[in-house]
Amino acid sequence: MEIVRRIPRMKEIVRDWHRQGRTVGFVPTMGYLHEGHLSLVRESKRMADHTVVSIFVNPLQFGPHEDYDRYPRDLDRDVEILSREGVDVLFYPSAEDMYPPGYRTYVEVEGLSQKWEGASRPGHFRGVATVVCKLFNIVQPDYAFFGQKDAQQFVIIRRMVEDLNMNVEVIQLPIVRESDGLAMSSRNVYLSPEERAIAPRLYQALQLGQRLVQEEGERDAAKVVEAVRSFLAQEPRIRVDYVALVDPQDLEPVETIRGRALLAAAIYLGSTRLIDNVILNVK
Ligand code: PAF
Repeated sequence: MEIVRRIPRMKEIVRDWHRQGRTVGFVPTMGYLHEGHLSLVRESKRMADHTVVSIFVNPLQFGPHEDYDRYPRDLDRDVEILSREGVDVLFYPSAEDMYPPGYRTYVEVEGLSQKWEGASRPGHFRGVATVVCKLFNIVQPDYAFFGQKDAQQFVIIRRMVEDLNMNVEVIQLPIVRESDGLAMSSRNVYLSPEERAIAPRLYQALQLGQRLVQEEGERDAAKVVEAVRSFLAQEPRIRVDYVALVDPQDLEPVETIRGRALLAAAIYLGSTRLIDNVILNVK
C-alpha cells in the first residue's frame, strides 16, 4: 500500500488508473478505524479495481468547543489494518495542504445542513461537504462509500453530488454494531466503563420504536418518538438531544408513517455525543 501525503501525487496515481480504464473506489475517513470502516473498504474492493482510503481529521467540521484536538488518532494501527485489507493507496494529506493560507471556498448544502445534527453542530455539514467535495476532486472516484450511522451526512453528500454534477456514485452501507448493539464509532473510546455499559440503550430505544411500527402497527410518528424518548429518559445519565422520525430523502419530519422512514436519535452520555438510527419499512 502506498501512503500518499501530497495532493499532486494522489491525482497522478488516479489519472494513471483511469487512463488504463480502471475504476476507483474511495472510502473517506477520519481514521481510528473500526469494523464499520472496514465494511466500506471491503465493498469498495468488491466493486472497484482500485481502492483509496483517506484519513484526514478535518478541522472544518469541528465546532470551537468540540473534540478536534482530542479526536482519537493512531496512524500506525490504521496503516497496518489497511495494508492487511489490501487497500491500494492511503491518502493522508495535511491540514496545511488541504486548507492553505488564503483558502476561501466552502460548500453549503442549504436546508439539509441546518437541522437535526446541524442544529446542534452549527457549521458541521459545511465542513463535511467542503472536505468531501475537495476529496472527490482530488481522488476522482467512480464509487464512494459511507456508513448509515451518519445518515444525514449521506443525504447531504448525495444532494451535493447531484447538484454539482459530480461523476461519482455514492453508496451507503448498513451500520456495523458491537455485540451488544452499540453502533461502532471512533468516538466510543471516550466512554467511561459505566457509560459504555449504558450506551447500548440508544439502539434499544430505536429498536423499541421499530417494533412499535413494524410489529404493533403504530403509524403515528409522534407516539413513536415519545416512546423512544420515554425509554431513554429512564436512564438519568442520558441527555436526549433529539429523536426524529423523518423522510429518508429530505429529512423532513413525517406525521404518519408510510413506506420508508428514518428513526434517528442523538444523546449525550457524560460529555460524549452518540448518534444512531434505524430504517422503518412499512409495506
Ligand atoms: O464520516 C466521516 O468520517 C467524515 O465526516 C468524513 C466523511 C470522512 C469527512 O471528513
